[in-house]
Amino acid sequence: MAERLKLVQKLTGLTDEEAKTLGNTGGLPPEMADRMIENVIGGITLPMGVATNFLINGKDYLVPMAIEEPSVVAAASNAAKMSRVKGGFRVTNTGPVMVGQIQTVEVKDPYGARMDLMLHKQEILDKANEQDPVLVSLGGGAKDINVKVISSVKGPMVITELIISTGDAMGGNAVNTMAEAVAPIVERLTGGKVYLRIISNLADRRLVRASAVFDKEAIGGEETVDGVVYAYAFAEGDPYRCATHNKGIMNGVIAVGIACGQDIRALEAGAHSYAVKNGGYKPLTTWEKNEKGDLVGTLEMPMAVGLIGGAARVHPAAKAAIKILGVKTAIELAEVMAAVGLAQNFAALRALAAEGIQRGHMKLHARNMAISAGATGSLVDLVAGKMVEERKVRFDRAKELVERFSK
Ligand code: MEV
Repeated sequence: MAERLKLVQKLTGLTDEEAKTLGNTGGLPPEMADRMIENVIGGITLPMGVATNFLINGKDYLVPMAIEEPSVVAAASNAAKMSRVKGGFRVTNTGPVMVGQIQTVEVKDPYGARMDLMLHKQEILDKANEQDPVLVSLGGGAKDINVKVISSVKGPMVITELIISTGDAMGGNAVNTMAEAVAPIVERLTGGKVYLRIISNLADRRLVRASAVFDKEAIGGEETVDGVVYAYAFAEGDPYRCATHNKGIMNGVIAVGIACGQDIRALEAGAHSYAVKNGGYKPLTTWEKNEKGDLVGTLEMPMAVGLIGGAARVHPAAKAAIKILGVKTAIELAEVMAAVGLAQNFAALRALAAEGIQRGHMKLHARNMAISAGATGSLVDLVAGKMVEERKVRFDRAKELVERFSK
């Protein structure tokens, strides 16, 4: 690793000081980092905070969140606090079921092949399950198949889908191994040619659904309730707003995902493809007013996460985060992440519908600005406070104030 970094330094003009910043692999021993991916030259760390007040299915959680954006952890904690008045978050799930796809092209009789594949379902499932006896012994494994004929720009294709219960794993490895193993059977039965054999990240058989009732008095009265419902309606009616609405949800989901060593690209892919499942791009949450005038929120989204395999099992910091969270199964982790996503969305909409998010953001942003302008110790809060008061959170002003207060 050191040798590689030296070479990169030579090629790019990185100073010793700059190169040193990469040496901190953030809770991951360098030799472990070196084995995790290729061409490793160091690491990049993110701050990990803990969100408080989360009461989910009657259990209290301290939630680790790794993110670079100020306000997210505070907003989640604050939303979770308000949700407690009416009992916190209730979350259900559909179980850890993933889909592996096998693409077959140049099939002479696609619908006949589809029928043949379905008639040989047991042979396909047996072959798939041979690949992972441990998963099968724990009650998981390939449970069913689905075969569809799609029309593509290259003509019809037969798509065979393995429906696999992946237990406490996210499932990427198990699913891909099984999809590859059954491909020769699929070729034999269809007479076509198999190309892709891969998991689908549209994990719509692995859904979580979180809901919470927010007491109208606890959240700022009727106007806040109406503001959040209108904000939801805006997202429902306009994809430009909806992208940002869903981004706010993912602020929470991904921060917990990073802390707990999850494949966050899979989570993003699943979320946004699910958001478009009915043709148009829609919010992953809904917000309504109930008969008592309280605010009711629900979030439904795919949540493909795991506790075995991947970084969750190897990265020491991720392991520590999972211990802090105290979840025992992948399902429990998914449920917590859904609650955090809902809380985050509520916090954003509440702030946006009232004073806007900039005031809260600016306070934290001002601290960062003060530090980059050279403030240390008590000077950080002094400079930041002054900038917020003046509503001038700018680098040039921070520099002036640092100079003035340092004298
Ligand atoms: C910022 O990271 C997230 C928000 O933009 C989300 C939203 O607009 O709902 C505040």
